[in-house]
Amino acid sequence: MPLPSSVLVVGAGGREHTLVRLLLASATKPRVLCAPGNAGIAQDAPCFPVAVEDIAALVALAKREQVGFVVVGPEVPLSLGLVDELTKAGIPAYGPKADGARLESSKIFTKEILLKYRIPTAAAEFFREVEPALAYLRSRPVPIVIKADGLAAGKGVVVAATLAEAEAAVRDMLGGKFGTSSSRILVEDCLFGEETSILVVVSGRDYVILPTSQDHKRIGDGDTGPNTGGMGTYSPAEVVTPALLERIDREIVRPSVNAIADEGMDFRGTLFVGVMLTPTGPSVIEYNARFGDPETQVVLPRLDCDLLELLWRAARCELAGFRLKVRPDFALCVVVAAKGYPEKFPKGDVITFPAQLPPATFIYHAGTTTNAAGQIVTNGGRVLGVTALAPTLPEAAARAYAACDAVLCASKYFRRDIGARQLNRR
Ligand code: AMP
Ligand code: GLY
Repeated sequence: MPLPSSVLVVGAGGREHTLVRLLLASATKPRVLCAPGNAGIAQDAPCFPVAVEDIAALVALAKREQVGFVVVGPEVPLSLGLVDELTKAGIPAYGPKADGARLESSKIFTKEILLKYRIPTAAAEFFREVEPALAYLRSRPVPIVIKADGLAAGKGVVVAATLAEAEAAVRDMLGGKFGTSSSRILVEDCLFGEETSILVVVSGRDYVILPTSQDHKRIGDGDTGPNTGGMGTYSPAEVVTPALLERIDREIVRPSVNAIADEGMDFRGTLFVGVMLTPTGPSVIEYNARFGDPETQVVLPRLDCDLLELLWRAARCELAGFRLKVRPDFALCVVVAAKGYPEKFPKGDVITFPAQLPPATFIYHAGTTTNAAGQIVTNGGRVLGVTALAPTLPEAAARAYAACDAVLCASKYFRRDIGARQLNRR
């Protein structure tokens, strides 16, 4: 099948801005549209104000604009069955159907698969009632991890340092803190080590492992403060040596892809495996059923191949034989957030962009919009992702930080230590 001449990207974040830019760079010069997009995406591609939850309107948009391919960014439309509906309408799409999206939207579903197929993961038990959960907790060492079963906007995991904290988390969650998302919980042993994000383009039993990366989830320098959606990334994550990646493939990726197929899911999309590199080996923390944000902002710009071809072949089950080529450069992304994120933060602050950026430096928009005066203003917690590529990680960091310093915005906040683990190891 020839590559499609038009593509609709669904989503509104830095991940989607990266996808839009790189799809536009395809050799076949496709028409690229986005829904709903943001102020930065709108500078590159036509955007349509359709919410990612509005499945019927997204399908109608794809039909009306006669797009030949849809690439879905976030988990919510996937879990609401967007790809199922597009498939019924005869529109090819990249992203799993609702059954595959459950790998992200139900942590218990995922844990059952991991245990059934003996894929390395932390021991865990499931509960829907407080007393048995508390009794189990008291039989385990601290720290211990309490997880809401369902989607909770990245806030459904508590790594409790003390029994009191764990008990409070159990009561909160089973008491309805996240509605039906926490009507069941998982109590899981704590894993220790460094985390890495393994993004895999999956097409049935075929797959391509993308370059490794590492996220920085906490809001503050030195990995302090509350968890966020991710404050910065770099790639490659050299802590994952070639031998370790081979082990992750053998013990985790291959068995996961086979398990998903054996369970009857026709998975064509990104399997994002959160891996803890424990002293005894790699262990699965979670699956996501989509590209990571901000992992995408460092992983995809490093690919030296046509992104449209990669995603299209995965969606068409023609991935076998695809040869991934990767640039030798390092990539580093600093997320510029609104001060106060992940709690309360202002919106509507004017952003001024530098007239010139350092070489190989890109600003991907996330929470931005255009105000009545035509100015670009903040519109979310994570506002921009500033990515730089360079032959070394320190140079990539210098470029990204020079650009972050040159962006002006009253509520600007970003971490100063993205990449520090790897930079300090040298
Ligand atoms: P998740 O929402 O599943 O991505 O979990 C959020 C974060 O909680 C992960 O990125 C880890 O940092 C942490 N986490 C989750 N499960 C565990 C575990 N079993 N042991 C240690 N940390 C964990
Ligand atoms: N950066 C982590 C995620 O996308 O879930």
